[in-house]
Amino acid sequence: MSDEVNEIRSRIDLAALVGQRVALKRVGKNWKGLCPFHDDRNPSFYVSPSIGRYRCFACGASGDAFNWVMQTQNVDFSEAVEILAGIAGVQLQRKKRPEDRTERQRQAMAMGAALAFFREELRRSASAKAYCERRGLDEETLSQWEIGYAPDVGAALAVRLQREGFPLAECAELFLVDRDASGGYFDKFRGRLMFPIRNERGELVAFGGRLLGDGHPKYINSGDTPLFRKSRVLYGFHLARAAIQDARRAVLVEGYLDVIACHRAGVREAVASLGTSLTEEHCGLLRRWCDEVVVLYDADEAGQKAADRAYEVLRTAGLKARFALMPAGEDPDTLLRTKGPSAVEQAVREALPPVEYRIRRLTARMAPSDEAFWEEAFGILASADNELEVERQIAFLAGIYPGLRDPSAAQRAIRSQLDRLRRPQRRRSDPAPRIVAPTAPKMSASERTVFLALLEPELRGAALEALRDEDLMETQAAADLAKALAASFQDGPPEGAPAAWMARIEPEEQRQAFADLVLEHQAKASAGQIPETIPEAFLLDALRKLSVARQRRQIQQLKGQELDDDRLRELAERLKRAQQRNDS
Ligand code: UTP
Ligand code: MN
Repeated sequence: MSDEVNEIRSRIDLAALVGQRVALKRVGKNWKGLCPFHDDRNPSFYVSPSIGRYRCFACGASGDAFNWVMQTQNVDFSEAVEILAGIAGVQLQRKKRPEDRTERQRQAMAMGAALAFFREELRRSASAKAYCERRGLDEETLSQWEIGYAPDVGAALAVRLQREGFPLAECAELFLVDRDASGGYFDKFRGRLMFPIRNERGELVAFGGRLLGDGHPKYINSGDTPLFRKSRVLYGFHLARAAIQDARRAVLVEGYLDVIACHRAGVREAVASLGTSLTEEHCGLLRRWCDEVVVLYDADEAGQKAADRAYEVLRTAGLKARFALMPAGEDPDTLLRTKGPSAVEQAVREALPPVEYRIRRLTARMAPSDEAFWEEAFGILASADNELEVERQIAFLAGIYPGLRDPSAAQRAIRSQLDRLRRPQRRRSDPAPRIVAPTAPKMSASERTVFLALLEPELRGAALEALRDEDLMETQAAADLAKALAASFQDGPPEGAPAAWMARIEPEEQRQAFADLVLEHQAKASAGQIPETIPEAFLLDALRKLSVARQRRQIQQLKGQELDDDRLRELAERLKRAQQRNDS
């Protein structure tokens, strides 16, 4: 018994277990959140997975995984052991006689027994171990993902399950065995590497099995069973959840080995839908933990089609989407093995918003001299629901528009064509646009505020005046953008909707930089992280901070230079002017 308890304790990820009830944030090696045992306003509840204990520094509640289950589920110790044994996949010796267990308990135990069997068989099978080695699956990976092997024997698992007292008719319902014509039972998985599939609570609900060699079908997954609906479960979710919650982002890949490869590459938000495309229910699960999904599907034709389908599902679910451009012929698993972890991480980091992604793929497939190219391009733009993203792509497409050398003439041509296309089918009932955060230029918060104030009709004048103030900005990116905006709106502040005057910003890369800032702002606002509009007080505060920073820069400059008298006088003069500006 105490062996079993220790075994369970060592297998349970306490942060994942507690995380099912309490929103936890990582702090160093530990996790913290609001204490569920008292009315906690400041997170005082800590979970330490390394020592397997939680503790509240306000109310004093503390314990291990067993205490947690006892306290939160109101059960006694032996019930807690059973519950956790189910999650940890530990077979309890001192279990009740089979006929006394509930059906649900029997099912969970049969699944656990099958897993234990597959794990043992992997240790026994030289060919399976050789296959794992060929695929770069080391000891640690095999144990973390609990990978096993189903031997290529007719009824090895069936015999084992029967011996352990599990009714085979029930095991057939779990997609472990099946009945043959003569009424006997045979194993569903034979000669396959076995991937256990756990639901978001960590319960073992299904298996996927891959042939060791070539052959058909390459993978078999459990069909729907009383424990498993494939349209609801995402492979790897129980291990990815904490990272998904932390990053507010999930990474969606196609296969088992892709999930595993991503995790090994440090991309711990990776999950996969299995033997089915992404469903509304998958999105429902994701939406509880994140706002954005990065799709990292295979670079082949099938993967791209699947990515398009996933996009529709994600957007209907209100999840933001970005798409990784994978090198041709690769999936995350091969990418990890050929190019290393940084390549996987980079693919995720550089994932593109939907419109840009689709235009990029189009550009890779067809030449802009082809009429069909433009038909598709306009189709993509017309169906997009994010104006700023469309604006960026219009700028890009203008550069490759055939026949028109002048980019602004090309932009006008594209825009009017697009307007024509859109007019008859404008859908007023569309939900609010979903904004995808691009990588906005690096700037200080104050600088951003000044630029974003251009979006507020009442603040435009003041913002533009600040942008004309030449050395106010602190970063190069902001100074460049300020200069471009000041030049583009020489005749006075812009009026009307941003989409209308954005196009006047020259040069193009500054227009993009501005669009990026706005997009990022809107994305954060729609995620509720910041208010949608910039209040005047924010702008004034930002201007004050920028002035003070400028003074500090000038003093720094004074200190750092050998100065002749003229230069000194000039700087003192500038300092005084800045001071006056600040005081006024
Ligand atoms: P892939 O064919 O892309 O395989 O299928 P993979 O993940 O790259 O696997 P390896 O690297 O060749 O071993 C992607 C996913 O589609 C499902 C599986 O979930 C698989 O991981 N699939 C594939 C099936 O369900 N059945 C199949 O026959 C093939
Ligand atoms: Mn693969």
